[in-house]
Amino acid sequence: MKLATVGKGGSGKTTIAGTLTRIFAERGNKILAIDGDPNPNLAHTLGLTRSEVEKITYIPPSIMKQGERVNDVVQMVPTIPREEIISEYGVKAAPYVDLLVMGQPAHGSAGSGCMCASHRAVRGLVAELTAFGEHTVTDMEAGLEHLKRGTARHVDMMLIVAEPYYRSLEAAMRTAELSRELEIPFIKLVANKVRNSSDEEAIRTFCDQHGIDVIGVVPLDDNLVEAERLEKAPYDFKPDSPGVQSIRKIAQEIDSLGVN
Ligand SMILES: Nc1ncnc2c1ncn2[C@@H]1O[C@H](COP(=O)(O)OP(=O)(O)OP(=O)(O)O)[C@@H](O)[C@H]1O
Ligand SMILES: [Mg+2]
Repeated sequence: MKLATVGKGGSGKTTIAGTLTRIFAERGNKILAIDGDPNPNLAHTLGLTRSEVEKITYIPPSIMKQGERVNDVVQMVPTIPREEIISEYGVKAAPYVDLLVMGQPAHGSAGSGCMCASHRAVRGLVAELTAFGEHTVTDMEAGLEHLKRGTARHVDMMLIVAEPYYRSLEAAMRTAELSRELEIPFIKLVANKVRNSSDEEAIRTFCDQHGIDVIGVVPLDDNLVEAERLEKAPYDFKPDSPGVQSIRKIAQEIDSLGVN
């Protein structure tokens, strides 16, 4: 299983990626969690403390170099073997969970303002790392741009996280369209921060109209915000909270789909 969470900024990608990872890890399968957001924050939702987070060595974009040109796009490839990347930069985040965190794209030289090459390196690295191991959960950066650059090349399940308001759903629809173009085998929507039945109905109606499958509904749950404030994993903070329980249900749904 190679799963990625995508969606609009603030929709809940990191919360859901981190909590799902912990739930999958309960089964004793090793999971590689990848923080593919240039502003990383997956570590806390997995359960690392502030001092542990401060010790994480981010993978520098400079370990990527230009490779072949595919469909007119120059691919970025790592300069050191994958195993070395994990042993050098991987962090034990929880039982059966290793975490890799991307570096920030380096800033362009003063005045040039160009971060393209560096962004490209980070994105190439996200794609490359997603090919690691059997089970990966990647927390992607917000928006669509990176998907066009191939970050989801190895992903077999795209979890599109959306909130019950029109712009979020519209963004989800575009993400679903792009994911179909990329031929990602499983494309599912998680309805997050749902306040009531009319929120849920609005999401379900929208998704029906656009042929998007809803895999689960996560209620608006203050426990998730509180966990974040305390820099704790929602999974550790309140495993029985409605938010964590509904993410557990999503994990069961994913299992029942038989994603490898
Ligand atoms: N179901 C929920 N109920 C209440 N709050 C939630 C819920 N899901 C996420 N949140 C809160 O919403 C905020 C954004 O969540 P999160 O960081 O997971 O989103 P994101 O999509 O990863 O954001 P970004 O695009 O900035 O990376 C956080 O404060 C988080 O605690
Ligand atoms: Mg995030």
